[in-house]
Amino acid sequence: MRKGYFISALMALILAFSVGCAKNSDVKQEEDKKVNLITEEELGYRTTTLYDEKLAQTPGNVYHTEIAGTSKRIERAFDNAPPMIPHSTEGLLPITKDNNMCTGCHMPEMAKAMGAVPIPKSHFVNLRTNQELDTLYQGRFNCSQCHTPQAKTDPIVENKFEGAFRTKEGRFSSNLMDNINEGVSAD
Ligand code: HEC
Ligand code: HEC
Repeated sequence: MRKGYFISALMALILAFSVGCAKNSDVKQEEDKKVNLITEEELGYRTTTLYDEKLAQTPGNVYHTEIAGTSKRIERAFDNAPPMIPHSTEGLLPITKDNNMCTGCHMPEMAKAMGAVPIPKSHFVNLRTNQELDTLYQGRFNCSQCHTPQAKTDPIVENKFEGAFRTKEGRFSSNLMDNINEGVSAD
């Protein structure tokens, strides 16, 4: 008799619990409807579906139009960061195997006459083997892989990153080869 009573009490408890769970999931669905769910098509700041790259554009971005020789250099993002291209790249990109206009002005032997910043020592070293080269290291050939033009934008999310610099000069010049081994122990 006592045992029977115990079992029915247990059953009642299980039943009450499962009803409670079902009720909770109903409540959750109701709440989800109320919070105005964002669909995958609406997700992100690009205001177009995530499933089509062709439609994804950055409308309104204005790039520098000053031709090389008339632009103002841009402060580096942090010590030894690749500098942004301050001048127009119209007609200079894309870089191809047979045509790299950038080197025409930036190779050290040309740069002075062109008033351009010479390509630094780091680009003439194979850093994997530490071998110094007479020519540009091929891994540096595609300049726009690392150096890009800067657009004048009104960002949706403000970037509060503040780069650190070892010296005042570091804001406009680099010295990577002098300190690339900093903190590296020979042992
Ligand atoms: C006609 C010569 C010329 C060509 C071609 C040229 N540049 Fe320049 N570049 C300059 C000059 C001159 C400056 C200095 C800013 C100025 O006077 O406009 C400069 C500045 C830069 C800077 C900023 C350097 C710094 O220390 O702030 C970068 C990066 C750069 N150019 C990359 C490139 C890349 C990449 C290409 C190829 C897509 C290229 N340049 C093509 C002449 C040239
Ligand atoms: C793999 C990335 C990468 C590629 C590719 C690359 N650079 Fe750089 N560049 C950097 C970085 C990082 C720096 C800053 C640190 C340093 O000097 O190495 C730099 C610095 C520079 C500077 C500033 C030098 C100074 O004294 O302040 C110039 C000019 C430059 N690069 C031009 C070029 C040109 C032109 C090409 C293509 C022929 C090129 N770079 C390809 C990463 C790259």
